[in-house]
Amino acid sequence: MARKRIVAGNWKMNMTIEEGRNWLRSFSRHHDLAQLVEEVIIFPPFTALAALANDERGNLLHWGGQNLHEAETGAYTGEISGPMIRDCHAGWVLVGHSERRTLFQEQDDLIARKMRRAIDSDLQPVLCVGETLEERESGQFMEVVARQVVRGLADFPQHALDRLVIAYEPVWAIGTGKTASPQDAQDMHQHIRETLSSLYTQPVASSIRILYGGSVKPENAASLFACPDIDGGLIGGASLDPDQFAALLGIR
Ligand code: PGA
Repeated sequence: MARKRIVAGNWKMNMTIEEGRNWLRSFSRHHDLAQLVEEVIIFPPFTALAALANDERGNLLHWGGQNLHEAETGAYTGEISGPMIRDCHAGWVLVGHSERRTLFQEQDDLIARKMRRAIDSDLQPVLCVGETLEERESGQFMEVVARQVVRGLADFPQHALDRLVIAYEPVWAIGTGKTASPQDAQDMHQHIRETLSSLYTQPVASSIRILYGGSVKPENAASLFACPDIDGGLIGGASLDPDQFAALLGIR
């Protein structure tokens, strides 16, 4: 089954509403948005999400939150819930990004609850996984990533598997300018797909999109996107520049 490519931008803690609108203006000048062959998803900071998702230029793109709380509502000062993301007219959410795992101590059990909450909030979650440099050098990286996938999906409902996307982002490649070689990335993506196949079925595994992230740029995207198990990219730094991000689209 053909998997539609996703090119996603994770803006992290960057962009005011005005900067985001300027980005959209430049991006839409570059690209005829009605002709997009990929699914383009932007994850702005929460403060800009509603304004951009409701901007007329933003209509042909998809929008998402960078995180959500595991509860639906409640006394959690400073947190954002799944229904609040939906309320912004956004349909997607990142879960378990490595910066959440390492800087905010998010563990697999919490990530599994967030994955469940995303589905219960009618959002499409992108489960982020990836090994640290230490884990890669120890040779344990395949097991580490498979474990993150299995544990992150521990409470994921089978009926929602068509809404699941996974992003493999080796921590040592994020924001460092180092990228996994296409062969190393493909090997890991294939391993993730095999893990999904043993959790579910082979047809389900072959329908789930797996994105690569970690210093993806226009110069290295073509060789990564050409790999059979790589279904697009989750892009940080290069997504902040509308010209660079636009150059990641339409790559064949
Ligand atoms: P990068 O970030 O493209 O700047 O490496 C990727 C990410 O963190 O999603």
